Amino acid sequence: MLQLNLNQLTPSDFLSIYWQKKPLVIRQGFKDFQDFLSSDELAGLACDDYVESRIVSQKNNLWHAEFGPFENYEHLGEKDWSLIVQAVNNWVPEVSQLIECFDFIPRWRFDDVMVSYATPGGGVGPHIDLYDVFICQGSGRRRWYVGDKGDHKEFAAHEALLHTESFESIIDVELFPGDILYIPPGFPHEGITLEESMSFSVGYRTSSAKDMISELADHLIDTNAAPQQIRDPDRQLSSGSGLINASDFVRIKQQIFNTLDDTLISEFSGCYLTRSKCELDLPDVPFEFDLDYLLVNIKEQNLTRLGGLRCLYFEESVSEGIFYLNGEKINLDEKYAQFIPLLCNNQVLTFEMLKPLLKHHDLIESLLCWLNLGYWYFDE
Ligand code: SIN
Ligand code: CO
Repeated sequence: MLQLNLNQLTPSDFLSIYWQKKPLVIRQGFKDFQDFLSSDELAGLACDDYVESRIVSQKNNLWHAEFGPFENYEHLGEKDWSLIVQAVNNWVPEVSQLIECFDFIPRWRFDDVMVSYATPGGGVGPHIDLYDVFICQGSGRRRWYVGDKGDHKEFAAHEALLHTESFESIIDVELFPGDILYIPPGFPHEGITLEESMSFSVGYRTSSAKDMISELADHLIDTNAAPQQIRDPDRQLSSGSGLINASDFVRIKQQIFNTLDDTLISEFSGCYLTRSKCELDLPDVPFEFDLDYLLVNIKEQNLTRLGGLRCLYFEESVSEGIFYLNGEKINLDEKYAQFIPLLCNNQVLTFEMLKPLLKHHDLIESLLCWLNLGYWYFDE
């Protein structure tokens, strides 16, 4: 089993000293680390229409980026390019072990596992990310430079590549298989491959208030929520027809704030945070498994959650049987509330875990429905 070793740090030390604050090199964070897939398999994935990928290359100091799906790689030569594939965890089930190692950071913050294969000299150039990332070095070697947070000028080195001007390094390391580099948002960095290399980047994101509010507006429209008009039966005489006076400003602000109650915010963010950014490996039409199939297999095989499928619950509403699954609010009977953490906190469900569920017919029906949608599957 893959195990993360933070050396002398506990996860809670890591959170208080480094998380979102400063970069860290974790030597041999994974002992005997093995790539989860080969570079050929990664190249094969990047040929798929559903998979998000890009190739970044550099020739005579000119940067170039192209986007997948790719048909072949023959034009690329043996150096100065890298292939980057997003959300590999959605397609390669083994990658879920890697995410689980970082589960001391909750899944609502998790984005995806991006895998890059790079030839010597390959990299994406100096840049700044908006997200936290654990770059786990697989096979090969890569040298990483990380600069301090600050006022770094950014520019487009290519229409699809935002680079930052050269920076002074506060970290300059060579990563070997099993080493990890943690980089918080805002720290400029650049990885240059020394020998053919695979890296596995476990990325975490947050959203800007602008993005959340724009998505919230769509949610209000979709659910036809908050149709109340502003009312002012208590209106007093105003001193100018062009004036929005202080009490009217309060009225307007109140209209907005009253709408944003806890129920709306949790329903919206539950749906928003469980929506997958990248394509999932779901069937085009639902499967037609029946109850017998479920009841026979559940005794013999583990039930695995589809890679990339997001499933979350709130402390405040779980006792009502509420959780969020792939962008939807699910409302189970409240007597099943205890099963929600089981579903949301575990990638793999064993028979022992599921046994107490089996006597509840309606719960089993829900599970069967999720099985038919491809959200969970038997792993053999
Ligand atoms: C890469 O893996 O090539 C890029 C990772 C990064 O710098 O964010
Ligand atoms: Co980066």
